Amino acid sequence: MMSREQNDRITRVGPADPAGRLLRRYWQPVALLEEFDGQQSSARPVKAVRLLGEDFVLFRDEAGAWGLLDRDCPHRGADLAYGRREDGGLRCPFHGWLFDVTGRCLDTPAEPAGSRLCERIRQRALPVREAAGALWAWPGEGEPPPFPALDCFVAPDSHVFAFKGLWECNWLQSLEVGIDPAHASFLHRFFEDEVPGEQSYGRQFRSASGESELPMTRLLREHARPEISVEPTARGLQLLALRRIDPHTTHLRLTQHLFPQAFAIPLSEDMTIVQYHVPVDDHSNYWFAFFTSFGDAIDKERMRGQRLALHQMPDYRPRVGRANQYGFDAQEQVRQTFTGMGHDINVHDQWACESQGRIQDRTREHLGTTDRAIIAARRLLLKAIDALERDPASPLPGLDAGALAEPGPPTVDAIGPGGDIDALRSFALSLDARRRAVARHREQPA
Ligand SMILES: [Fe+2]
Repeated sequence: MMSREQNDRITRVGPADPAGRLLRRYWQPVALLEEFDGQQSSARPVKAVRLLGEDFVLFRDEAGAWGLLDRDCPHRGADLAYGRREDGGLRCPFHGWLFDVTGRCLDTPAEPAGSRLCERIRQRALPVREAAGALWAWPGEGEPPPFPALDCFVAPDSHVFAFKGLWECNWLQSLEVGIDPAHASFLHRFFEDEVPGEQSYGRQFRSASGESELPMTRLLREHARPEISVEPTARGLQLLALRRIDPHTTHLRLTQHLFPQAFAIPLSEDMTIVQYHVPVDDHSNYWFAFFTSFGDAIDKERMRGQRLALHQMPDYRPRVGRANQYGFDAQEQVRQTFTGMGHDINVHDQWACESQGRIQDRTREHLGTTDRAIIAARRLLLKAIDALERDPASPLPGLDAGALAEPGPPTVDAIGPGGDIDALRSFALSLDARRRAVARHREQPA
């Protein structure tokens, strides 16, 4: 249990809030590139973006450069998201003031000829970069850090797929579901098993565990008390969850917490996911998932199609949610699924997070042994927030040269032998190293 002050301290994201200040030290994904590729309703490369409780306009100028500017025109505050894209920038429709991607004012055409007003005007502009199928912004002061060498940033474009979705709750509780290995045995429990190896969207837990003949659904159902170990890494925390099937057989799931707001999980033998939870404001967040394949190129059209069908444009708001009770069906809950909310595990996770309230009241919670990664992650967060308050130049997790250069992160879902947790961790890491060593995209020029 924590105090209200502590809960506010780790959840609230405004520019003056402690967690908000910390998050602004890290690159944030702000949009998918596909939002501008012409398939969406509005291909015009100008879009309002709300990030960390602040409003911006994201646009691409005629030369192809991206800018992210404060959304209110510095003249009299009109909305630049309705701006005209012309003459090397974005022009406010109110009086024609024109801004380039760096926030420089290029023109104030209603002012008298020879006016030098422009020279004194500067709109705040955040640095923007394309990476892993998304646009990323740096909301911090000074020089942005380099991108980390995570799989999704170093693999060729053909092997990376990005998607996003809006959840109506605080970013931290959304992150915390990703570092909670025990919930899968309950929240994602299905009473009937599928044929191993059969894959369909949203049923990752039914088929993730390579090599095994044991249906994942049965494994999770019958082994509901995982042993969980949590270790610090340069980037956050490494989690290993063990489910002992018999003395010689263990199910292993190795996942990562990537400070401050992402986690990495295995999707299949060939694919890993890094998922960021990006605050829109205190009360909602986007998950941005970055899928990286170690095997064949990704069939992005298929993956996008499956996901687009479940989301409403232009906000990527899930079609199933609070407004329609997450599709809850009492009969289904009796006969088929633990939740009664269908077979899409993303909907289950969304319900778990959103039903905690817009900001979970952590003064009323009671944590157990399975929450040890959540406890460790909150400690890291509080520690970093404290350090930053004491000294703005404090080193922060994941941002030193060693952490940024580290490849990975390792993620594994597999059946292994018996043994103690250290031996099984080594075994899991060796499996991850093996798939990296033979990754097909490594053979191709990036
Ligand atoms: Fe889940």
